[in-house]
Amino acid sequence: MSTRPAKQNAAPSGNPSQPHLSRGDQCFDDRAEHLKNNIYGSAKGQLRLNILQRDLASLTQAPRALTVLDAGCGAGWMSEWALSHGHHVTACDSSAVMIAEINARLGEHPHFCAQQATIQTLAPQPQYDVIFCHAVLEWVENQAELLDKLSALLKPNGRLSLMFYNAWAREMAQLVYGNFDFIDRGYRVRQRVKLNPHYPAFPNEVKQALEDRGLTLLSRSGIRIFYDIMRHRQHYQTLADDIMRHELRVSQQFPYWQMGRYVHFWAQK
Ligand SMILES: C[S@@+](CC[C@H](N)C(=O)[O-])C[C@H]1O[C@@H](n2cnc3c(N)ncnc32)[C@H](O)[C@@H]1O
Repeated sequence: MSTRPAKQNAAPSGNPSQPHLSRGDQCFDDRAEHLKNNIYGSAKGQLRLNILQRDLASLTQAPRALTVLDAGCGAGWMSEWALSHGHHVTACDSSAVMIAEINARLGEHPHFCAQQATIQTLAPQPQYDVIFCHAVLEWVENQAELLDKLSALLKPNGRLSLMFYNAWAREMAQLVYGNFDFIDRGYRVRQRVKLNPHYPAFPNEVKQALEDRGLTLLSRSGIRIFYDIMRHRQHYQTLADDIMRHELRVSQQFPYWQMGRYVHFWAQK
């Protein structure tokens, strides 16, 4: 990933099958069900939510309602959480299926609105007190452009919750599985697996990219540090509470946080 802010007025490359997406970016219309079952219907999803919500606990004690943009909201579990703490949420997603799903659950809420749009094409105003951008960066080819947009959409002193798929953890997993050919081929596959993110990011580069845009890290956590590479899968059932407790315990400790399958940065402008 280039850590430099993207050039202004860079020519859009265009995605021929989905005109609102750039070439290389992903449409999730056919993955909603899989995401729901595979991530949020499982302990993985609960772990992700527990760590995000622990890191964002200051939002539960905010003295006033904050404006929150859930950028790439998916089914909107974090939108729902922010609403439950009295905040005003705008959600956007490039997928019509995701927007239909979130509207079915939250559409009637007086402080919620959703629109089908890519983050990159959102209007520059309004700016937000808080932006969530979770598990989106790794699906976007031009990551510098996305980060430019997110920082521009934050109010001065606004805070960004950015969770992304960690390229270091991908490498560690492939080493553990012995997939050396795959590593040696530069992670290139003939047929891409739809749910495998295409553009994992290195935490040190993302941190630098945020700092280049005037943001300062408030905290960083790893999500699924040992979960995915556990030796005995039966422990998912027999030791579920212990796994959760220890994942939470080591999630912010050095060096473990940087080994999480996902990394969560909480940063301030
Ligand atoms: C893996 S899901 C994560 C959803 C949600 N943020 C979460 O954490 O559960 C990625 C979502 O980002 C959306 N997405 C991908 N690229 C996008 C873009 N450029 N602008 C807006 N949404 C995008 C997809 O449609 C999908 O719903």
